[in-house]
Amino acid sequence: MNRQYHTPLFTKLREHANLNPIQFHIPGHKKGQGMDPEYRDFIGLNALSIDLINIAPLDDLHHPQGIIQEAQQLAAEAFGADHTFFSIQGTSGAIMTMVMSVVGPGDKIIVPRNVHKSVLSAVILAGALPIFVHPEMDKTLGIAHGITACQVDKALKQHPDAKAVLVINPTYYGVAGNLKEIVELVHRYGIPVLVDEAHGVLTHFHDRLPMSAMDAGADMAATSVHKLGGSLTQSSVLNVREGLVNPARVQSIISMLTTTSTSYILLASLDAARRYLAVNGEEIIEETLKLADYARRQINEIPGLRCVGREWLGSDAVYDMDETKLLIHLENMSINGSEAENWLRDHYQIEVELSDLYNLLCLITPGDTNETIDQLLTALRGMSSQFYQAGRCSAVEIHLPDIPTLVLSPREAFYSETESILLKEAAGRVIAEFIMIYPPGIPILAPGEEITEENIYYIAEHIQAGLPVQGPEDPTLQTVRVIK
Ligand SMILES: Cc1ncc(COP(=O)(O)O)c(C=O)c1O
Repeated sequence: MNRQYHTPLFTKLREHANLNPIQFHIPGHKKGQGMDPEYRDFIGLNALSIDLINIAPLDDLHHPQGIIQEAQQLAAEAFGADHTFFSIQGTSGAIMTMVMSVVGPGDKIIVPRNVHKSVLSAVILAGALPIFVHPEMDKTLGIAHGITACQVDKALKQHPDAKAVLVINPTYYGVAGNLKEIVELVHRYGIPVLVDEAHGVLTHFHDRLPMSAMDAGADMAATSVHKLGGSLTQSSVLNVREGLVNPARVQSIISMLTTTSTSYILLASLDAARRYLAVNGEEIIEETLKLADYARRQINEIPGLRCVGREWLGSDAVYDMDETKLLIHLENMSINGSEAENWLRDHYQIEVELSDLYNLLCLITPGDTNETIDQLLTALRGMSSQFYQAGRCSAVEIHLPDIPTLVLSPREAFYSETESILLKEAAGRVIAEFIMIYPPGIPILAPGEEITEENIYYIAEHIQAGLPVQGPEDPTLQTVRVIK
C-alpha cells in the first residue's frame, strides 16, 4: 500500500488511548476526568483521550526518533521536501525558525516590506538587518503583491553580503510572483531562499495552483497546514531542502522556540492532514477550484463587485494566482470593506476571511459545497442591491503610503530607551514598536522606522473605517512609543 495512507502518529495515539492506561502524568485532567464537566462534554472524550504529552511510547518533538520522526518523513515525501519539521507554534514559529536558522547578529536578509510581523520579530531576536524590497503596489485594488527577480537582483548587487532572501508566495490575497526565477537567481549568489508559504499549503497538490516553494527549488518554506490544508489551528510545517541550510541547526532553533508541552492533538492533526492531502489532494482541490470558478463568474455578474481572476496577471510580481481565493473588489459600492464585512455578518451570518478599505477576501476550501457558495452569492447580491452606486468607481481614490525609512536596526530600536508620545505629533520620530493591520498582520510601521505624516494619516484612515489596527502598547492608538 502507498506509504501515504499511513498515519504513524495519529494511529499510535489512538492505540495508546485505547489501552486506557492509568495515567500519573500531566495533563492533570486525565482523559477529561479532572476538569470542568461542561467543557469536557462539549469537547468530547475522544479528543481528551489523545491530549497527551511526550511519554516514551509517543516520541518527542524535540528529539524525534519514533512516530513523530516517521510522520515528519511522510510529510517531507508528500511536500517534496528533504525534511519536514512539525510546528505547533503556528506558521509564525516556522517562519521565525527559518529566519533564525540562517541569520545572526548584524547579518543582512532581503525581505519584501509587506512581510508578516513574525519575520520582523525573528529579525529583532536574531539582531539581523532587514533589507527591504518594495513589493509591487496595486493602485486599483489597494493591496501589495509580490516581488520580482529583477528587484531581488538589484538588492543583491547593492548588498552582496546578504545571507538570505525571503519571499512571500503566494500573498494573503493569493497572488504569486515568479518564484522559480527568484530561486534560480538567488542560488547563483550561493545563498538560501526562504518562503513564507502561509497561504500556499495546497500549491504542491494541484497544477492549476501557483508553484510550491519546494517545487521551485527553495531551501525552506513555512507552510500553514492549518490555514487551508485541514489540520487544527496553530499547527504548521517547516519544509527544508538540503544544500544551503543545515537541518540540524533548524532542529535546534525550532526546539528553542517551541514549548516543551507539545500538543499531541495538534501533532496528530498534522499527520492526518498530510494523509488527506497526499491521498486526496488533487481531487478535492479540483472540486474546490470548480466551486471557486462558479463563484467568481457569478460575483462578476453582480453590480458593483469585481472578483479578481487570471485577467489580473501580467507582470513578474503578479505572475500566477490561487483561484480558490475570492478577492472581491468593492468597485462601485457606497460602503468600504470593513462596512461590507460587518453588513454580511449582521444580515447573513457570513464571516469573511478579511476586509480592507477596498476589498473582501473569501476563501473557498475543500470544506465548501454548492450550498455555501450559493449562500455567499445571495448575500453579495443583497449587499449590491442596497449599496451599488453606478459611476462611483472613478471617485475611489486608493492611497498607499510609501515604505518608511529604516533609521535604526529593528533590534536597536526595540531595545532603545523610549518614550510615549501622541501619535498625531509623532511625524519625524523613530518608532520602537509595531503598528499593523490584523489581518493580514503586515506592519504599517516596524521598530526602527521613521514615522511620516502620511503614515499617521493612513493609520487614522484605517481606524476611522473600523479596520483592526493593532500592535502598540496603547490599544487606543492615541499614543505611540518612540526612541528618546
Ligand atoms: C503571510 C503570512 N505569514 C505568516 C502568517 C502567520 O501564520 P500563523 O498565524 O499560523 O502563525 C500569516 C498569518 O496570517 C500570514 O498571513
